[in-house]
Amino acid sequence: MKRRIMLAMVIAVSSCATGTQLARNTVPQDSAIFDLIDREQHRQEHTINLIASENYTSKEVMRASASPLTNKYAEGYAGKRYYAGCEVIDDVERIAIARCKELFNAEHANVQPHAGSQANMAAYFAVLKPGDTILGMSLAEGGHLTHGHPVNFSGSIYNVVQYKVHPETHLLDFDEIEKLALEHKPKLIVCGASAYSRTIDFARFAAIAKKVGALLMADIAHIAGLVAAGLHPSPFPHADIATSTTHKTLRGPRGAIILCKKELAAAVDKAVMPGTQGGPFMNVIAAKAVAFHEALDSSFIRYQEQVIMNAKALAKNLQDKGYDIVAGGTDNHLFIVDLRSKKVSGRATELALQKAGITCSRSCIPFDPAKPWITSGVRFGTPGLTTRGMGVAQMAQVADFVDRAIMQHADEDALNAIKQEVETLCAQFPIYK
Ligand SMILES: Cc1ncc(COP(=O)(O)O)c(C=O)c1O
Repeated sequence: MKRRIMLAMVIAVSSCATGTQLARNTVPQDSAIFDLIDREQHRQEHTINLIASENYTSKEVMRASASPLTNKYAEGYAGKRYYAGCEVIDDVERIAIARCKELFNAEHANVQPHAGSQANMAAYFAVLKPGDTILGMSLAEGGHLTHGHPVNFSGSIYNVVQYKVHPETHLLDFDEIEKLALEHKPKLIVCGASAYSRTIDFARFAAIAKKVGALLMADIAHIAGLVAAGLHPSPFPHADIATSTTHKTLRGPRGAIILCKKELAAAVDKAVMPGTQGGPFMNVIAAKAVAFHEALDSSFIRYQEQVIMNAKALAKNLQDKGYDIVAGGTDNHLFIVDLRSKKVSGRATELALQKAGITCSRSCIPFDPAKPWITSGVRFGTPGLTTRGMGVAQMAQVADFVDRAIMQHADEDALNAIKQEVETLCAQFPIYK
């Protein structure tokens, strides 16, 4: 009865309103979610973020992402859609593709993948059949789930052979990779990593792939920003396909891309849509285009140079405090700290740092004796701190916070005191002014 009266009142109030007004009048206020968004923004502003795979997009990227383009269905590709009304959307996707190709010097780009895992799935579908053999880096030694881990689709659909890093140097062991390739004759070799701090030699991978008649796929999800800035060697012309997320060092919206040689263009497009996805997120594609535009600007090169300088400085400061860095240091935006000499696990470190206002992700070290849930390491990255304007001087401060938090990880008061100092530092480097 009560509901009926309410309904009658709504109809009465809106009887002289237009359809649009009616829709607006009846949208309920969602304070639950918007309060949480405010809280999350506050958390981001007031904490030091050392998660290597995160970054802060520009307001322009967010504006495109939150635009009315989210309303449009556009299954298909520019000029060949399964929906009408795509004439504007088509131009958005064309611009995104052109900028993406220019940025990565790629012959073909597909900008529709919703995420890195979907990009990898579509790339595999483009060139492999179920049961084919792939040679990829193991998750525990720095690879990604989608590079053939048994719990992932890649590990269940394909016959997977995994390579690790060298047991002593913790560098890619090309002799071992070549041996495995010769032995197992993979159809696809996957290179690229989630937790590898040294330069990836794409030419060397390509030589091995050529020797065994395999295709080469480079997953540059982590290093895409460095590649775009010319500060890490490009996968092209060595790789046949490259995949990447757009939200890590590239500093775009959450999403992904696939780049490839033109011979594979049709197969890649087909594998994305209709192979593995339906309608593209056109608002996100617009946001990717905005991020590519930003990455084509010379200021992006300076940003990436600073990301690398900061990573090297943070690693060096920690080394000076007695921390072991896997592979001896870093050439890129991240590194793994081996915590065994400090007698504390990755998980305990992650928790202690969180209490001190510092977020990071625990990480396996190569050949980790600890369980994956616990780990003996943490992974630190500098893309986020660099975006908010921090430089080498602040890396010394951050290393000091990290060291104190690890040394006093069981002391709640000490962690709280560090948190106050972290907040003071963060206040000097706001993310969104
Ligand atoms: C190397 C690599 N590839 C793929 C992915 C998957 O990306 P997403 O989380 O967007 O699926 C990641 C994510 O961490 C990654 O590090």
